[in-house]
Amino acid sequence: MTIHENTSLIHINTFQVPAKARYFSTFSDAAELENLPVNNVPLLIVGGGSNILFTKDFDGLVLKNEIRGIEELHEDPEYVYVRAGAGENWHSFVLYCLEKGWGGLENLSLIPGNVGAAPIQNIGAYGVELEDLFWDLEAFDLTQKKIRTFTKTDCEFNYRDSIFKNRYKGQLVILNVTFRLRKKPVFHTSYGIIQQELDNMGIRELGIKAISQAVINIRSRKLPDPAKIGNAGSFFKNPSVRKDFYDSLQIKNPGIVGYPNLNGSVKLAAGWLIEQCGPESSVSWKGYRIGDAGCHPNQALVLVNYGSATGAQVYELSEKIKKSVKDRFNVDLEREVNII
Ligand code: FAD
Ligand code: EPU
Repeated sequence: MTIHENTSLIHINTFQVPAKARYFSTFSDAAELENLPVNNVPLLIVGGGSNILFTKDFDGLVLKNEIRGIEELHEDPEYVYVRAGAGENWHSFVLYCLEKGWGGLENLSLIPGNVGAAPIQNIGAYGVELEDLFWDLEAFDLTQKKIRTFTKTDCEFNYRDSIFKNRYKGQLVILNVTFRLRKKPVFHTSYGIIQQELDNMGIRELGIKAISQAVINIRSRKLPDPAKIGNAGSFFKNPSVRKDFYDSLQIKNPGIVGYPNLNGSVKLAAGWLIEQCGPESSVSWKGYRIGDAGCHPNQALVLVNYGSATGAQVYELSEKIKKSVKDRFNVDLEREVNII
């Protein structure tokens, strides 16, 4: 493992904010993690850098995961079990599975980042979450210096959450993830405007490739391309509130957008809440820009860097948005993006 000092991180975070790592290296197998050349400094594992905001330099070792490989482990009459290295690009892996005809990942098309980070926040989109396809994963435990296997139950998956964001934060390096995919796909087209998009595409015979393309079309219209405008997708999670609180909000705000959760609570669309608030009472955050930090004009939940914003400036804007939503609706927004 070759260690570089004072390395710029601007090209390994999709916000494209400037930051430096005191030490930087890459690794492509678990053996390299057994004896790290730099010890007693904080460690940060990165994949595609699409869910990170650097607000300052990182005074430690940044390790970029480059473990590659896709392997079909075994199959049974219904499923195929596929293992992907943590450093594989997520969308390329989805396309690989679509080509093979394996069903399940199509609704998760075009999510940036790598396979290894996907279980950390249990990535989700268009009615499907990673946990629906997850079988198990292997991770290197930096404390115990050994490889451990985590089954689905071990991972404690929840909406944008898992055990890796909580109890094991910073202790584990995910090495590979195994997915259980369907040989005979089951289609999920009821979420949002997927069906409408499929109709517009003139699809007569539904298939996983068509669903993937519909999701790609919708996402490309709605979300800024990080290659053009720095961002990390939704900056905040959609907050869940008690049903009685939701009802009281709805009386005062008939347009409020909320979806019932299975446990009886209601998940609010944070984008809607943010759109209703602003730096001044008559102005919305949506489309707001201060310097090069801004709130995207098509999706208020996405904060952006138009070019030369720093991570601290984006963070400062997020603080103001959080405060105004709290003041107006008494709802706490929790950041989805990992703040460094
Ligand atoms: P990174 O940003 O590199 O890392 C994220 C976190 O995981 C960090 O805390 C890092 O330390 C840790 N980490 C990364 N790899 C490992 C590893 N191997 N072992 C241990 N820890 C690790 N997310 C969704 O859920 N749904 C969406 O629809 C979605 N849309 C997005 C759209 C855009 C335009 C963008 C920019 C982002 C979007 N995201 C979405 C967020 C992001 O793509 C996902 O969270 C993705 O899984 C992050 O992967 P990454 O490799 O870039 O992770
Ligand atoms: N809305 C507004 N104004 C906005 C944005 C949204 O009013 O500016 C309202 C609209 O009513 C809209 C609703 O919010 O119908 C939901 O918006 P959208 O469909 O764009 O989804 P989202 O809730 O904003 C979530 C995920 C996305 C995921 C999409 C599709 C979170 C935090 N975000 O966004 O994930 O791609 O649904 O499933 O759950 C990410 O995690 O980074 C991410 C992009």
